[in-house]
Order: sequence, then C-alpha cells, then structure tokens
Amino acid sequence: MENLQAYSAPLEGRRGMLRLDFNENTVGPSPKVVEALRAIPAEHVAIYPEYDGLQAAVAASLQRISGPAAPGRSLEPHHIGLFNGVDGALHALFQAYGAPGDRLLTTSPTFGYYSPCARMQGMAIEAIPYRHNDFTFPFDEILAALTGPTPGPGQVAAPQPWTPPRLLLICNPNNPTGTRLAPERILALAAASPATLVVVDELYEAFSGDSVLPLLLAGAGAEGTWVPGAADPFAAFPNLLVLRSLAKTAGLAGLRIGFAIGHPAVVERVGRVTGPYDINSFAVTAAYAALDDQAYVDGFVAEVLAAKALLQQRLTAAGWRHQGEGGNYLLLWPRARGAAAVEQRLRDAGILVRSMAGKPLIDGSLRVSIGTRAQMEMFWSAWQQADC
Ligand SMILES: Cc1ncc(COP(=O)(O)O)c(C=O)c1O
Repeated sequence: MENLQAYSAPLEGRRGMLRLDFNENTVGPSPKVVEALRAIPAEHVAIYPEYDGLQAAVAASLQRISGPAAPGRSLEPHHIGLFNGVDGALHALFQAYGAPGDRLLTTSPTFGYYSPCARMQGMAIEAIPYRHNDFTFPFDEILAALTGPTPGPGQVAAPQPWTPPRLLLICNPNNPTGTRLAPERILALAAASPATLVVVDELYEAFSGDSVLPLLLAGAGAEGTWVPGAADPFAAFPNLLVLRSLAKTAGLAGLRIGFAIGHPAVVERVGRVTGPYDINSFAVTAAYAALDDQAYVDGFVAEVLAAKALLQQRLTAAGWRHQGEGGNYLLLWPRARGAAAVEQRLRDAGILVRSMAGKPLIDGSLRVSIGTRAQMEMFWSAWQQADC
C-alpha cells in the first residue's frame, strides 16, 4: 500500500471546452437516453437498483451487432458481467485473478489503469513494447512470454521451472497507439495459453470492427478450426474475457457502466468481488435506452471515422507525423514547438488534448480524440496556429 500511487487523470475544469482529451463521445448520448433519464420517477431514486433483464439486453445487443451465429449458439445473460465502468471490471478481474507474485503480461504503451490494478494485487508486470516506428503488435514476443522458454538443443525440458502469466491484457485497438490486432490472432494467443486469463479490452472496437465476439459466435476454435455444435460461444475459449463499455461510443461515460463478456465460470468468479449495488439506477435506465438505439451509435461512429480520415489526409499533406489506425483518437507530434507549449496554446484556444509526456515510445506526442467534422475543423485551424 505504501508504494502505491493513485491513478491520476486531469479530470477537473473540462466543461465548456472542446474535450479531445479522453476519447469521449463529443456530442453526448442519444436523445432517447436523455428522455429516459428525465422520465425517472422519484421512487426510482429511493430504492436500490434492479438489474433484472439488463444482462439479457446486453447479450441480445452484442449478438445483434456481431452478425450471424452458428445454429444454436448464442450469448446468454450468464456470459455478461455488469460493472461500474470497464474500470470497475478491470479492478474486479485483477482482484479475482491476481495474487502477490503472479505475473501480468501486457504491452507498452497501453491504457494506464492495468498496471495500478496489477500493483494493488502485488503482481509483477511484464510490459512488451510495441514495435518501434510503426507500433505494430509484438505478437511473437507476447507468444513467447506466454508459452515460456523453449528447450535448448539436446535438452528435453526448459532449464528452469516456469509459471505462465496469470493475466494477459490486450487493448484492441490499443489506446493510445491505435494498433490493431486481428481477432484471429487473439484467439491463437488464448488457445496457446490455457492457464492464462486473456483479457481483450475492446473499448474502441466500434471504430475498427476488430472484435473476437463475431468469431466466437460463428464457431471459431483454435488455429482456425471450427467448433460446430457447442452452444456456448466460449466453449473452446474458457480463458478469454472481453471488455466492452457504453462510456465512449454511446456517450455514457459520466454514468459509469461497462461489461465483461466471457465463460460463465469466469464471469461468476469476477462477480464475486463486486458489491451488490455497484451500478446505480440511472446507469441502468440509460443503458437500456442506449442499447435500444444502436442507430445513434452507428451514426456517431460513421461521423468520427469521416472526421478522422479527413484529419489524417490533412496531416499527411502538411507533413505532420501522426499515428493511429484504430480508435477515435490519433497521436500527433508537434514539429515547431514542444508538446507542452502546443498543448497550452490549444488550451488557450478552448481545446483540450492529452499529453503523452513520459510514456515509452511516444514521449513528445499529443493524443487527440476525434469528434465530428465540424469539431475537427476547429481543431485543425487551432492546431496549425499552435504549432507554428
Ligand atoms: C482502453 C480503455 N479501457 C477502459 C477504459 C475505461 O472505460 P470506462 O469508462 O468504461 O470505465 C478506458 C477509458 O479511457 C480506456 O481507454
């Protein structure tokens, strides 16, 4: 405890600014969500939240957006864990699976909350860097770290007794580098490491469509095989857990609701370390309304992708270094001034972006969330003036 530091994110004084610093939905939730929240009766506030039916609604929504499933295969309520944001799910899964001395395997740089959760459990952290320059996923290194030392020539067994990592955390697409990893490769990692819980943080999946869920529902098995007949999409991958949230795309960040999707035994185990009422009634009401309005989310995602493509074109044409294939964000490297000065100039123009100062491989860059085309027009003119 004495060695822990609070996870710090600059979260105050952001209202009224163009917030391109936390990858949030920059236009807010669906009007149907706002309507549902406004219609909440006073009684709803006085009683403890009720979650009945929400897992079924999440399962049905994920199944719908994941495309065709193999006959008889479906996501069911027992595959869905409900949490106070994906942050809550992360905290719980580290508590449920991590013990002092266990290892977390992950990549670097990646989402900043995995490491504090591991440290809280006394876990050792092995973070393998993305590849220099193009930030591709270090697949071979991760596979080697998962499967352990191979015996040398003439040896029958590895020289040391070896324990596999307890947890592998993959953020796909990765925040903040935007690195994409094909879902088939994630299944290959999970199949190669049955003793490791492989957690795929798919918070930004909607912007690239790289989810493992369509494969699991269609019937994927290890190494491109197919598992016909099994009703449970996680039958072949009981060590895989997927994280999804309504925070970013659906615009519910302020209400805190996220999901863990996996084998019923894993979901049950992670659920053991949460309180009975960790998610509040407002989040539940908003979640039902948001899940019911997928068209709103699809419209926002399409708008962001159009704005991102335009910004990428402009940055390339003007010769600014930028990075970020997946996700609703880009890393930008200022060239005329230091990142701190450019960040301040943007702030003076009413625009917030996130500094990547001190992060391995990307020190000196700024992470810019993508909003609508109109918002990114504002950003583009401010950026050109800030970095000159
Ligand atoms: C990769 C990643 N995972 C999880 C979270 C937390 O999500 P939530 O708001 O659902 O707690 C974030 C938020 O920035 C994120 O970027």
